[in-house]
Amino acid sequence: MTNLFQQIQSGEKSICVIGLGYVGLPIALEFARKFRVVGFDINAARVELMNQGIDPSKELDSKAFEGCNIRFTSNADEIKECSIYIVAVPTPINEANEPDLTPLVGASKAVGRAISKGDYVIYESTTYPGCTEDDCVPVIEEISGLKAVADFKVGYSPERINPGDKERPLTKILKIVSACDEESLNVVADLYSSIIEPGVYRAASIKVAEAAKIIENTQRDMNISLMNELSMIFNKIGINTYDVIEAAGTKWNFHKYTPGLVGGHCIGVDPYYLLHKAESMGIHPRVIAAGRYTNDSMAAHIAQKAIKKLNKVGKVVKDSRILIMGATFKENVADIRNSKIVDIVNELKSYSVNVEVVDPHADSAELQHEYGFDLASSINGTYDGIILAVSHTEYCQLNPAWFQQHIATDGFLIDLKGLYRSVSSEIGLDYSSL
Ligand SMILES: NC(=O)c1ccc[n+]([C@@H]2O[C@H](COP(=O)([O-])OP(=O)(O)OC[C@H]3O[C@@H](n4cnc5c(N)ncnc54)[C@H](O)[C@@H]3O)[C@@H](O)[C@H]2O)c1
Repeated sequence: MTNLFQQIQSGEKSICVIGLGYVGLPIALEFARKFRVVGFDINAARVELMNQGIDPSKELDSKAFEGCNIRFTSNADEIKECSIYIVAVPTPINEANEPDLTPLVGASKAVGRAISKGDYVIYESTTYPGCTEDDCVPVIEEISGLKAVADFKVGYSPERINPGDKERPLTKILKIVSACDEESLNVVADLYSSIIEPGVYRAASIKVAEAAKIIENTQRDMNISLMNELSMIFNKIGINTYDVIEAAGTKWNFHKYTPGLVGGHCIGVDPYYLLHKAESMGIHPRVIAAGRYTNDSMAAHIAQKAIKKLNKVGKVVKDSRILIMGATFKENVADIRNSKIVDIVNELKSYSVNVEVVDPHADSAELQHEYGFDLASSINGTYDGIILAVSHTEYCQLNPAWFQQHIATDGFLIDLKGLYRSVSSEIGLDYSSL
């Protein structure tokens, strides 16, 4: 008797990937190089683009679609023929910073309507320990009338890709796998091992795999928050945080994290999932909550720093001109989700500052739609100050003369990532980093 993985290998059975964003599309295409795949997404406009070989998230080029045995659809009826359902939908938070499980529940309902006896469902979305088994599986059971473990198998395999990182694509990152029993763990492990070069790590349980992913991101958030807090202390002392980190980094066991804005869909969001789980059990984690607070406060801190700099040289804040370079949540990506630049813009605008934002990677219409501001078409004339916010490659190649040309002689440069720290004396303006 062949197992489900072998039936996938022979082409007898197929895989369905639900949610084709930054995570789902690469995994769907990778499986589609070897197996039969259906890519399902509720967003028909995105499906239309993918049918033309275009990645709506702008991470993959058209070559990634070549030679793939994949059919894209936004019609949930078309996924019923599949046997392994991989769920990669978003796991956002609501305005109160609580998990919004709407996409996960919606995807689980679609699985519930499509799943048959003997099928598998594997969740990839990042979530708190217990979410798969306690919040998602019951939805599938209720709609399908089937019982998990006995009738269908459940797995969890968190995604670890780093958008914009061309060195470490999905296939080169060891993948954690987990499942509801030994037999299904073998199938899930074989499935992912077929596309992941370094292979898989078999976690002790689904909850362990969920927790492992969430602490990867929580640890990063906490480390950055420590650096942000230190940067405030060092700024007051009058020393450069990056100089301190460089010096401390000469010790073998010092971890070189840098201060900065924490935005995007993962690092600034996932700790809230863990906080939610902890609080639901009567535990109130102080370190995680404090780290989140510190990181979420950075944008306002930076904007206020800019206002103080205007005041210091006697500039009228109202209608002063500040340029922000970078709008995406991190360097060299087009992703503006949860970008903290928006908070800097809004804080400065609340002081009636004339803010202009430029970014070679971001989409102006998307910024207008999501946040209500456009990108400036070009860097134009002289500014009272520039906030160099995102270290896009294009912004790492400027020279002191460029800043002198675009910043008034009594103006300032806030270089968040410390890119021009070594030439700050040549720039000669009011220079600071975080
Ligand atoms: N982006 C990353 O770098 C990254 C890395 C690791 C893990 N993750 C996690 O992976 C998950 C997915 O993130 P993403 O960045 O790919 O999200 P995304 O926003 O890029 O894409 C999600 C896709 O799912 C679709 N979708 C939403 N609800 C749906 C539903 N009910 N049925 C079908 N499709 C639906 C959306 O239309 C969208 O195309 C999240 O849990 C995230 O935390 C993301």
